[in-house]
Amino acid sequence: MTTARLQLTGISKRFAATAALADVSLELLAGEIHALVGENGAGKSTLVKVIAGVHQPDAGEIRLDGELITVPNPAAARERGIAVVHQEPRLFPDLSVAENIFLIAPPTDRFHTISWGEMRRRAAELFEQLDVRIDVAAPVRGLSMADQQLIEIAKALAIEARVLILDEPTASLSSHEVERLFTIVRRTSERGVAVLFVSHRLDEVFELCDRATVFRDGRYVTTAPTSELTTASLVRFMVGREVSLFPKEATTVGAPILEVRNLSDASGFRDVSFTVRAGEILGLAGLVGAGRTEIARVLFGIEPRTAGEVLLDGRPVEFRSPSEALRAGVAYVPEDRHQDGLVLDFSITNNITLPILGRLFPRLFLRARTEVEVATQFSERLRVRMTGVDQAVKALSGGNQQKVVIAKWLAARPRVLILDEPTRGVDIGAKVEVHRIVSELAASGLAIIMISSDLPEVLAMSDRILVLHEGRISEEIPRADATEERVMFAATGQRVQAPAGTGASSVH
Ligand SMILES: Nc1ncnc2c1ncn2[C@@H]1O[C@H](COP(=O)(O)OP(=O)(O)OP(=O)(O)O)[C@@H](O)[C@H]1O
Ligand SMILES: [Mg+2]
Repeated sequence: MTTARLQLTGISKRFAATAALADVSLELLAGEIHALVGENGAGKSTLVKVIAGVHQPDAGEIRLDGELITVPNPAAARERGIAVVHQEPRLFPDLSVAENIFLIAPPTDRFHTISWGEMRRRAAELFEQLDVRIDVAAPVRGLSMADQQLIEIAKALAIEARVLILDEPTASLSSHEVERLFTIVRRTSERGVAVLFVSHRLDEVFELCDRATVFRDGRYVTTAPTSELTTASLVRFMVGREVSLFPKEATTVGAPILEVRNLSDASGFRDVSFTVRAGEILGLAGLVGAGRTEIARVLFGIEPRTAGEVLLDGRPVEFRSPSEALRAGVAYVPEDRHQDGLVLDFSITNNITLPILGRLFPRLFLRARTEVEVATQFSERLRVRMTGVDQAVKALSGGNQQKVVIAKWLAARPRVLILDEPTRGVDIGAKVEVHRIVSELAASGLAIIMISSDLPEVLAMSDRILVLHEGRISEEIPRADATEERVMFAATGQRVQAPAGTGASSVH
């Protein structure tokens, strides 16, 4: 029998009242790609942080190539050849991209001074491998989530690793970047590196991984070769019950609520026109960077428009701030929950009721109770794993934080709801719940715009799909005609040739 590259035995970790990990074990073999899956709050990131030296376990043993080790801090992990991509990028905003990558072990010349030129050259090389263009001399501040994630990946690839751990590395990457990453991960594992891959995207788990381990509520459930698992059986291990995916309810579409005419902004998108009616879900598809988020930001008053018109209930509107948009009934669930979505130090209750404080009971003593009721109702519906609604949001797992962002805007009861990647990073049970709620909201007469890179989600939920390519609408596809292939083609600026006789045109 070969010794495991990395062996964790009986690991436990508590945070106050939460048992994040209770006596879990995991074995990574050299050369294997091993998936770690489980619902939000199952303890995946906590285990990753124990291996990475971010957290110290309360109990348990870690062995690297048979040798008993401790990992007192992240630098110690890197020295031992444990490379980690964390779920939330942990970068220094004021340092350059290259400096972030080589922070711990910068290349030096023979006089032991840091060689900046060498550092930039090696950083640029890493991005070349990933086939992405990032200015390695620029500061990290202001970069998109996708770019930050790519920098984290480059940082992990920069060391000679024995173990590579990726905690939801693909959450904000485009499909091209995901493909490149997978190629690199496969190549890395072929060199004998043990890879641990944490993801909620089960298709990725089956595509990439040899074995999978499932955690549930901080406990170990099972480990099996992926060839012996199916999506259904994996979900059953994760959730402990059967889950059926929830397609959109049929609704009657009413009057136009939001009309967008020839809208442009400074750089993200141009000449975009569409209408969303009451009861309708309009899907916005396209590659990362196609301009979808920029449209949402203009509609919500975060960024100004440079041309065009927006009508709400037939009247022209121009919001100069999100609070103006919110007052008019437009709400936006942003993709980057840390920058735009949450006040991390606030409780779950205070985050959820922040936008609606004025509307809850004006009398203070009643307000506090109503706030808690509203927060409880929405966080229970979304199954937020928490000790209570008074818990600080920063103590929640990544996916549970995402649920709180969604709860916050659902509680605002808007007329137009814009969702940007609403189920990214949430587990399958919560995803079904979000779809159910969004579908109910549409049925109750809201106009919904859903931006999503998850094609099955866009196809299942949208009444119409607007596909963007490089800032312009490349195609509008009705629900009945939408296929993954057609959306993908339009997203890359091409058209699928329609079979003769369908009536669908293949040219403009
Ligand atoms: N720093 C912390 N303080 C308090 N509680 C924490 C802390 N970090 C994690 N927890 C709790 O530990 C549990 C496990 O969290 P963890 O982040 O490991 O989950 P996860 O499986 O990675 O979930 P996700 O899929 O949402 O990323 C959760 O209930 C979370 O609220
Ligand atoms: Mg996590």
